[in-house]
Amino acid sequence: MPAPSTRRVVLSGIQPSGTLHLGNYFGALRQHVERSKHTTGDGNDAFFFVVNYHALTSLRDADALRRYTFDVALDYLALGFDPTHAALFVQSDVPAVTELAWIFNCLTPVARLEKGVAYKDKVQNGLVANAGLFTYPILQAADILIYGGDVPTVVPVGADQRQNLETARDVADWFNAAFPGPEGEPTFALPEAEILPDVAIVPGVDGRKMSKSYGNTIGLFDEGNVLKKRVAAIVTDSTPLEEPKDPDADNVFALIKLFATPEETAEIAAKYRAGGYGYGHAKGRLRELIDAHFAEARERRKELAERPDFVRDVLADGARKARRRADAVMDTVRRRTGLR
Ligand code: ADP
Ligand code: TRP
Repeated sequence: MPAPSTRRVVLSGIQPSGTLHLGNYFGALRQHVERSKHTTGDGNDAFFFVVNYHALTSLRDADALRRYTFDVALDYLALGFDPTHAALFVQSDVPAVTELAWIFNCLTPVARLEKGVAYKDKVQNGLVANAGLFTYPILQAADILIYGGDVPTVVPVGADQRQNLETARDVADWFNAAFPGPEGEPTFALPEAEILPDVAIVPGVDGRKMSKSYGNTIGLFDEGNVLKKRVAAIVTDSTPLEEPKDPDADNVFALIKLFATPEETAEIAAKYRAGGYGYGHAKGRLRELIDAHFAEARERRKELAERPDFVRDVLADGARKARRRADAVMDTVRRRTGLR
């Protein structure tokens, strides 16, 4: 018997719908960059993409979409993404993904999409959801399955993506059941979410989940006065400086924990509990920690911004690798569905 294959595809996407923030970094980007560095191989088993079709569900500004798309690529490369081992590309450079999404739409019960969290939120808040937002999880399923095909896929994402990953698994099942191969073999292996539990939700300056839609973010590359103002804006309670404080109830401490070593985290927690340590002190330290953590990436980002052609070449190369994989999977899909 042949040894079972251990081949895995790793992939993930990120929306270019605004400037990336610390929540995006700890919930997604950091893992993507690490993965790109530790993926061995020639870049054909790891795919990271900027999902500009998805961003169109909320953005209607061509210049902004172009700029955010380029900036996300710049952010990845500045943080050390290794484009020789993993493909970095723009979603719309593989247009077949919308064809696959259409095929999946035809297999998906409307009632299932009505349970979508992002869609339900919009409707509950009295907003009119467009059909793109409604079928967003289906396009995401296509993103995942088109590069996976029958190879199992690992998808590093933030905890809020759990539901979309469930949908992608169900879509794979529905397709496999509706269109079995000649020997009954499945077209798609079931993808797995990889969620880092430690940093499941990064709080924003107002204590809610950090999100560009809440305007409560600290930008990944904020520096100087901008960074100072964002950190100053973090909401704390009114316990006086000299009194003991509960670190676990404080937003500043929640962010410090993400950057400080375990030893320093414990030290700062002890200072909170002892009293005489104010939120101003904690904010000063947080600012230093953020500043130091991204210092190198900030410099690299400035250098790369001077070389836009290099960034574009990386994206073009990534798109070529992605199309090669997508074409092979789509060939099977078209035959099995009768489109060809
Ligand atoms: P936003 O809420 O700002 O619009 P996105 O929905 O575009 O962010 O999220 C992009 C990625 O970053 C996703 O994988 C998501 O899980 C992760 N992410 C976003 N905000 C946070 C957060 N506050 N904590 C942890 N992960 C987050
Ligand atoms: N929905 C994801 C987010 O908001 C972005 C995304 C689109 C994605 N396609 C994907 C993530 C495929 C992982 C895999 O963060």
